Amino acid sequence: MTKLTQSTTWKALQAHTSQLPHMRELFAQNPQRFEQMSVKSCGLFLDYSKNRINDDTLELLFSLAKEANLTDKIAAMFNGDVINNTEHRAVLHTALRSKAEQEIIAEGANIVPEVQQTLAKMAEFVESVQSGQWKGYTGKAITDVVSIGIGGSFLGPKIVSQALRPYWHAGLNCHFVANVDATSICEKLKGLNAETTLFVMSSKSFGTQETLTNTLSAKEWFLAQGATQQDIAKHFVAVTSNVTKATEFGMDANNIFPMWDWVGGRYSLWSAIGLPIALLVGMDNFKALLDGAHQMDEHFANTPLPQNMPVIMAMLSVLYGNFHGSQSHVILTYDHYLRGLPAYFQQLDMESNGKSVTLDGTDVDYSTGPVIWGGEGTNGQHAYHQLLHQGTALIPADFIMPLQSHNPLGEHHDQLASNCFGQTQALMQGRTFEEALAELSNSKLDEPQKALIAKHKVMSGNKPSNTLLMDKLTPTTLGALIALYEHRTFVQGAIWQINSFDQWGVELGKQLGNDVLERIGADQDATELDSSSNALVNLYRQGKL
Ligand code: F6P
Repeated sequence: MTKLTQSTTWKALQAHTSQLPHMRELFAQNPQRFEQMSVKSCGLFLDYSKNRINDDTLELLFSLAKEANLTDKIAAMFNGDVINNTEHRAVLHTALRSKAEQEIIAEGANIVPEVQQTLAKMAEFVESVQSGQWKGYTGKAITDVVSIGIGGSFLGPKIVSQALRPYWHAGLNCHFVANVDATSICEKLKGLNAETTLFVMSSKSFGTQETLTNTLSAKEWFLAQGATQQDIAKHFVAVTSNVTKATEFGMDANNIFPMWDWVGGRYSLWSAIGLPIALLVGMDNFKALLDGAHQMDEHFANTPLPQNMPVIMAMLSVLYGNFHGSQSHVILTYDHYLRGLPAYFQQLDMESNGKSVTLDGTDVDYSTGPVIWGGEGTNGQHAYHQLLHQGTALIPADFIMPLQSHNPLGEHHDQLASNCFGQTQALMQGRTFEEALAELSNSKLDEPQKALIAKHKVMSGNKPSNTLLMDKLTPTTLGALIALYEHRTFVQGAIWQINSFDQWGVELGKQLGNDVLERIGADQDATELDSSSNALVNLYRQGKL
């Protein structure tokens, strides 16, 4: 058994959680519950009162955090210690949103100047594209950006751009291509004019199959429209930490925006990987996004654990995953612009915390990262919320909503908000058999039928949720929100003593995919794999069933 599950605090939490009364009762017992269990910082407000907690639970959870040396681990990340021990890397996405006057050392050198230089290069480029000074090969201004990348080099730019739609520069549109499925790029290129299209290739490693293949196809398409090899420099730029490989690939050295080893793929939107965002919303808004994240960094680094928003959210997730058997966590955004956020947080959390050995290689004997999923409200209320309310799985939920809409229209926002709050209330209080029966009192059903229907209408309640509010969705609040979830993910990893910054499972997929590709292109049928894989490869080679 690991030290973690052997600890007195762990055992105390196990005993404590099984005795805690229903949340209805906890609310009845303490009229100050909302005031005591809510926190405001960085333009965000977190109400965590609708959780299976009382003061004792919180005390135990924060003890667990202390025993895990959380404060030291937070400091180690910000200091640039090599905390990604399997890839021997520092984890310094926080440096990307630092202030120019800060000094942050990685591998013996202050990295802030190069971060600032890259921001300046981005600013110059964004200005020239937005102003129309940057001309395509026939002298026309750019109207469309095609962003090519996958994983963190796709989700961050895409979801943030989508979220900041009200801030887009008039006259520029962006299209995102990730999947190696040709349909993705072919559909995106339909209707685009090569003369006014700019391709941004984003790949930290410059070795990801999907991105390289899509870029080559984009180049072929571009040349097939009548452009020449010399015209490529006006239409293709790259963001990468592997400048040598990008140059070998044919990228013009002036058109390469650098990033660094110490930025993890799923934490990279703050680097030049965010170039498509900056092109759409302008550099001032991009910097406001960085500033929001920086505010959250400051909050995270300097706030005592019991008032620390990412720590609170992380410890609640630990509570459900490790002491209530919950295996999934749902993100419900009550804002159409934030509809992509669950997919972003899914990569962030599942690629980070989907691990089963500790930093020193010991097998864990406790659950780590849950399945993260979700969608936009109110749509989900007419679909999967049924399972949240009455299913057998316990699925903690985060409800996220801006108080003001970018599109105030009649009663829409009031209705949206009432649905959001109504759902958290229903999840918390549920409906008892007696309440369900009382609701049927005027119906024409006989007593046994009433009892049967009432039974089906019972909702146990006691289902946990957080509610996260902001005044309005702006670049700054969005930056703070994303950084909040980044740090939440980090804290969970710290408690579980895992490395949240590598992704060997994903790397294996890449490796095996390449092996199979070789066999698909070989002269003979595959024979060396397992019988299923051989047969599938050979069926594919045949091209028909
Ligand atoms: O999916 C694995 C991963 O390594 C992600 O972490 C990363 O964001 C993505 O691949 C793309 O990698 P790259 O930016 O190097 O092309």
